Amino acid sequence: MIIERATEADLDAIVELERHSFPRPWPRSTFETELAAPQSRLEVGRLGGVIVGFVNYWLVADELHIHSITTHPDHRRAGLGTQLLDHMLAAGRAVGATLATLEVRAGNAPAIALYTRAGFTTVHTRPRYYQDNHEDALIMTMPLLAS
Ligand SMILES: CC(C)(COP(=O)(O)OP(=O)(O)OC[C@H]1O[C@@H](n2cnc3c(N)ncnc32)[C@H](O)[C@@H]1OP(=O)(O)O)[C@@H](O)C(=O)NCCC(=O)NCCS
Repeated sequence: MIIERATEADLDAIVELERHSFPRPWPRSTFETELAAPQSRLEVGRLGGVIVGFVNYWLVADELHIHSITTHPDHRRAGLGTQLLDHMLAAGRAVGATLATLEVRAGNAPAIALYTRAGFTTVHTRPRYYQDNHEDALIMTMPLLAS
């Protein structure tokens, strides 16, 4: 999989993937904002030119904030999520970030397993945080050691 910066031309595919992956998908306007924001990176993963995943993260001060990671349902459990996550961690290290942080639904077992395997731990729980189903939010972090 090749991972590269998204462009306006990728937004349809990103929005489509988002719709298939999240109970409360972000609207297109959110991705347009992320594409333009200087601290934000919106990147896609392509297999044979076809978008099979995307990530959105912020590089703020000395932290990497992971906002979204998604792989296409037809391509899950094939290592693409790990590749996308490793890519974000490397991007954080490359700019000197010392901490990676993210928020995840407590019931999102696949994502929590992915993050835990990478070295993230839960440092805080926000009870009944999500308005749609009152699910808890977990705040997970991981130190980014230079490598
Ligand atoms: C979370 C997500 C990105 C994982 O992507 P993926 O391409 O399947 O990830 P990988 O193939 O690299 O899986 C890495 C590891 O994560 C864990 N994992 C992934 N999916 C899992 C599942 N359904 N159940 C349990 N563990 C899972 C496993 O430890 C897996 O390693 P293994 O396959 O060797 O057992 C994908 O399921 C997804 O897009 N989900 C919808 C969007 C989402 O919830 N994103 C996270 C919140 S922003």
